[in-house]
Amino acid sequence: MKKVHNFNAGPCVLPKPAIAAGIDALKDFKDSGMSVIEVSHRGKDWEAVMNETETLWRELLHIPGGYKVLFLSGGASMQFLMVPYNLMERKAAYLETGVWAKKAFKEAQILGGDKAVKVASSADRNYTYIPKDYVIPADADYFHITTNNTIYGTEIHTDLDSPVPLVADMSSDIMSRPVDVSKYGLIYGGAQKNVGTAGVAFVIVREDILGKVTRPFPTILDYRTHIQNGSMFNTPPVFPILIMNETLKWVKAQGGVQGIYKQNVEKAALLYNEIDRNKLFTGTAEKEARSLMNICFVMNKGYENKEEAFLNYAKERGMVGIKGHRSVGGFRASVYNACPKESVEALVQCMQEFEKIN
Ligand SMILES: Cc1ncc(COP(=O)(O)O)c(C=O)c1O
Repeated sequence: MKKVHNFNAGPCVLPKPAIAAGIDALKDFKDSGMSVIEVSHRGKDWEAVMNETETLWRELLHIPGGYKVLFLSGGASMQFLMVPYNLMERKAAYLETGVWAKKAFKEAQILGGDKAVKVASSADRNYTYIPKDYVIPADADYFHITTNNTIYGTEIHTDLDSPVPLVADMSSDIMSRPVDVSKYGLIYGGAQKNVGTAGVAFVIVREDILGKVTRPFPTILDYRTHIQNGSMFNTPPVFPILIMNETLKWVKAQGGVQGIYKQNVEKAALLYNEIDRNKLFTGTAEKEARSLMNICFVMNKGYENKEEAFLNYAKERGMVGIKGHRSVGGFRASVYNACPKESVEALVQCMQEFEKIN
């Protein structure tokens, strides 16, 4: 295989052993003579994968009793609407820290109109910071946040205190740092960054926050349906769940979330230090809000005309996916769990060499 340094924002680089195990299971699942995509999802072999995947989640995030772990289809975007359907009765509070947060808020508005309230937004500075001065309404049914803003490279680094159930979209920073699950009512995300491939979303929900809404809503949108059916109310996306299982085993082998976090801090520091040192580049996110996962930067003043040249220079040296999202411009290096330190070092070297010739 051609060697590249993959900085894609998701789908993104995955652990090599997880991909290898996926290929094996596609060929022959547990010596069954069938591919994993050919076996019955009601069979013992598949059931074992489901159970083990849940156990890995529980172990790695120290998920307390009283919480259920679900694997659902529809990506994180489906959770944008499942959350309000299941939890919004009187009022739902949202923190707007980027486009994904805005999309989540929109679904709550569609369902509840004025019941959906925005407590703060960082849109005034193109989402380059995390708002701090806001009050979470004590009469809200929940408070929704996006812990990592994939497009803008900002992150909420701590588990917030909230007087009402805290609901977090952790699509792009799940398993990247230790999280105190007990501070959340619900955590969700698409798998396709740190926990596998697109096609499955994870939901961790404290069971006692469910069943409080009085309006009827579709069976398949009700978390209780999926709890009762062990995430197999409808046919589960077996291959994405298998890749998730293998990815979590890899996380465990890295020393669990604590071990991964240490690596992530080192990788991010390498790149941010270079951005701050190099005269050609400047970071876009406010320093205290800088994401460990998505590192956004642009050409410094006076060097704007070098953007295309740097993209080409980096591409020739094997860098993939460093063009920034169109709403931010410049560059974005996504350094998810499976992105090796070696790739970050290669990008840093590339930035240093480019500085020398400019
Ligand atoms: C923070 C965040 N939330 C939600 C989504 C949407 O996820 P999905 O494509 O699984 O619906 C993304 C996708 O990149 C994301 O980064």
